Parts: sequence; C-alpha cells; structure tokens
Amino acid sequence: MAEGARHLPLEPATPPAPAKSELPPGPTEWPLLQVLRYSRHPYRTMLDATREFGNSYTARPPGQPPIVVFSDPDAIKDIFNADGEAVLGGEGMSYMLGPILGWNSLLVLDGERHRRERRLLLPPFHGERMHVYGRLIREITDRAIDRWPVGRRFTIHAEMQSITLDVILHAVFGLDEGPRMSRLRAAMLASLRLFGGPAAAFLAIPTLQIDLGRLTPWGRFVRYRRDIDRVLLDEIARRRSDGTAGRNDVLSMLIEARDENGEAMTDAELVDEMFTVLGAGHETTAGSLSWTFSHVLPRPDVLERIHVEHERVVGDGPVEPEHLPKLEYLDAVIKETGRLTPVATQVMRRVKTPMRIGTYDLPAGVNVSAGIYATHHREDLWPDPERFDPDRFLGTRPSPYTFFPFGGGERRCLGAAFAAFEMKVVLAHVLARATLRLTPGYRARPVLRALTVAPSKGVPVLMDRAPA
Ligand code: HEM
Repeated sequence: MAEGARHLPLEPATPPAPAKSELPPGPTEWPLLQVLRYSRHPYRTMLDATREFGNSYTARPPGQPPIVVFSDPDAIKDIFNADGEAVLGGEGMSYMLGPILGWNSLLVLDGERHRRERRLLLPPFHGERMHVYGRLIREITDRAIDRWPVGRRFTIHAEMQSITLDVILHAVFGLDEGPRMSRLRAAMLASLRLFGGPAAAFLAIPTLQIDLGRLTPWGRFVRYRRDIDRVLLDEIARRRSDGTAGRNDVLSMLIEARDENGEAMTDAELVDEMFTVLGAGHETTAGSLSWTFSHVLPRPDVLERIHVEHERVVGDGPVEPEHLPKLEYLDAVIKETGRLTPVATQVMRRVKTPMRIGTYDLPAGVNVSAGIYATHHREDLWPDPERFDPDRFLGTRPSPYTFFPFGGGERRCLGAAFAAFEMKVVLAHVLARATLRLTPGYRARPVLRALTVAPSKGVPVLMDRAPA
C-alpha cells in the first residue's frame, strides 16, 4: 500500500448518542421462517432488515439467543476490539459450526485453548513460508486449465474447488498423490456437493440436523465426515509410528507440538483442526474466486486493465511471488469482490459480560454480529454500493471497520494472507492463459452453500480457443 494512503472516514460527525439498554428492534416473523428466508436470500435478507430497522437490528434464530446485527463502523470497532474473554467468538459460532467442524475446531474454541492452537496453526500460513506454495499453486492451476474443454460449457466453481482443495491438501498435509490422497479428495468433494445442493440449509440449521441414515442430508454428511476422519486418523497413526522427520507440513508440525505441560494434541483434536483447515481453507477461497470471475468476465474494461498490468509486471514468464505486490489492480479486483459479494455475510461473538457496543448497553448472553455484507453495502461508506468498481481500492487503505471480508480482531481469519496469495496466483495465471466468457444470459445470483455464499449455477463459462 502506498505511503500516505487515504483512510475512509470513520469518526462520527456528532457526539456519541446516550446508550440504550433495550435490544434494537428486528424482524418479528416466526424464527424458523427468518432462518429459511436467510437461507434462500442471504444477501437480500440482511439488506432488507438494515433498510427497515437501521444499522443495528435483532435477529431471533430458533432455539438460540438473539443476535444483534451491527453495520455501524463504531459498533464493529467495539466488537473487534472487545476483550477476548468478554466476547467469545467460539461460543458465538459453536451452535452452528460445532456439529459440522467438530468441538475441538479452532473456530469453536475460546480462551487459552484457542490462543494455543492459533499460535500453532498460524506460522505456515504467513510470510515467507507461503512463498514455497507459489509454484505448487501454479502447477495445480495449470493441470486444471489443461483439462478445460474448448467450445463446451463448464463451471468455474467446480474448477476452483478442485484447485483450492488440491492446494490445501498438498500444502497442509504434505500428502503425496496416491490412494490416501484420492480417498480424502473424493470424500471432501462428496460432502461439498452436499453443501452446494438443495439440502444445504438443512446442514447449517442445528434444529434440522437430523440423522436418519442416508435418507437425510445430515445423515449423509455425518457419514462423509466419518470417511474423512478415518483417512485422517490413518495418516496420523502412520506419522506417529514412522516419525515426521524431514516433513514440514502442518499435520506433522501439530503432531510434534507440545503445550506448556508437555502434552501433545490428541487424535480427536488433530482431526478436528485438520478438517477445519480443509473446510475453512478451500470452500471460502473457491467461492471468492468464482465470484471474481463472475464480476470480471462480463467487463472488458476490467479485463483489459488486468492484462495490461500483467504484461507490465510479469511479462511472458510465470507469475512469481515477487510479482504479487506489484499486481495492484488485480489486488483491487479481489478486494472489490470481497466487498461486493463476501462469502461470509457476518461474524458472530457471544457477549459474556454486560458491555456497550455502539450505542447499546447489551446484557450477557446475547450474540453480537459484525454484519459484513450490510456494512459493505452502506451507501454512505461505499457510494453506488452495487457497482463492481475496483478503483475504490486503488491508493487507499480501507478501515478494518468498514471493510472486513475476513472478519477482525483476535479471531480474524487465520488464512487471510494465504487466501490472498493463492487467489492472486490463480487469477493471474488463469486470466493470462485462458480466454473465458460467461455463457450467454448468465447472471450470478447469491446462493447459500450451508456456511458460505457462492454465485448460482457454479458460474458457467465457455473457452473459445485452446489455452496459451
Ligand atoms: C477468501 C478466502 C477466505 C475467506 C473470505 C475467509 C473468511 C473467514 C472469516 C470471515 C472468518 C471469521 C473471522 C472472525 O470471526 O472474525 C474466518 C476464520 C478462519 N479462517 Fe478463513 N477465510 C478464507 C480463507 C481461509 C484459508 C485459506 C484458511 C486456512 C488455510 C482459513 C482458515 C480460517 C480459520 C482456521 C479461521 C478461524 C480463526 C479463529 O477463530 O481464530 N480461511 N475466515
């Protein structure tokens, strides 16, 4: 980011209003209906509520504490800067994520255990360590592009899932190609199909998580998850017996890790963390990449600027890690996608001690949500908010309280740097090699895939000539 980069204004022009101790009003329809409406129209439901009730409203999911949703930067700042013991990210999300990711997942842990496991998981996804993945990401992307048919429709989302799944499997598990990798990939893809299908809503709504064998979506998910766990447990057992010498992947590092008392992580803990990184690490990235294609392909002006920048910075050779900071327009394209169509619509915390958030004094026990989508679509913060305009991000550093596709504070996405790196390499490489266009008449609609929002129909595209 350039020196002296502009920050979007944050400070309110008027003194803060006196605090209110009632929860803000919100939709009054039957709680299950609220959830079903959200699952059918995730973006619109949030915007409608914001338009009707203002920048804070209360949603009431069935069987759960009320959620106060904020889209006011001052309130977002309060949420992200609150003491990690006073607002719990794990407890706030656990009712939804615990049954899917497992109760030892970083996403549902709080306090010391959360800090300990975050410290262990963070290093491989940051700084120089990421650069070793540059060539791997390029090779995996090349293999995908070489498979794409000329003149026949295919869907970008499936291709991006396959690329991001392979990247995370290789980078995090260090698994070599072979039967174990194939089993794991097949089980992950099967459960992903479930998350992308018509039954997706049944997976993320705890009251609908009913296991009646393969007849119910939840029953099918439970069985896929068992398959995945079995492969992971085999791999853990193999590494415990063969040793992890010479391996520097995350799984090996976690097997070797010891806490202050010299305790190693249990198999159950390892399995949940691996599943978390697999799930959180690739479905989000695949969705974000798919949205980017859906915005960019119908815009010759944007494509032209991406190509001109690529020519100037990269030339004819492969994209290398040192090129990435100079691909500023591509970076702005990715950020604008994260603003306009964030794959996570909100992040949640559970209030543990009474506290003020924005202009509300909230009691312990309620959930607070930083409304990503609602904040990203405020006309006063982002003029003409429905327009895809990467120039918004050129030469400016947006405030972390007006732009937060990766959440914020102590629980900000652990893989944000890794995802940004991966998305840049994949996009730069695909757009340099392949000439794609959306199939005629296609317009992306947001579809909830259980936990993330992806573009409808997988973004169908055509490639008119063989890739370069
Ligand atoms: C474009 C891609 C991605 C998006 C949009 C995204 C978004 C998010 C969001 C919104 C959160 C919640 C943050 C909060 O509560 O404040 C999160 C957490 C997390 N993400 Fe990501 N993510 C992406 C990619 C990744 C990748 C590549 C990985 C792993 C390699 C990853 C691993 C995690 C983990 C482990 C957490 C939990 C962090 C914690 O609770 O301390 N994510 N992500």
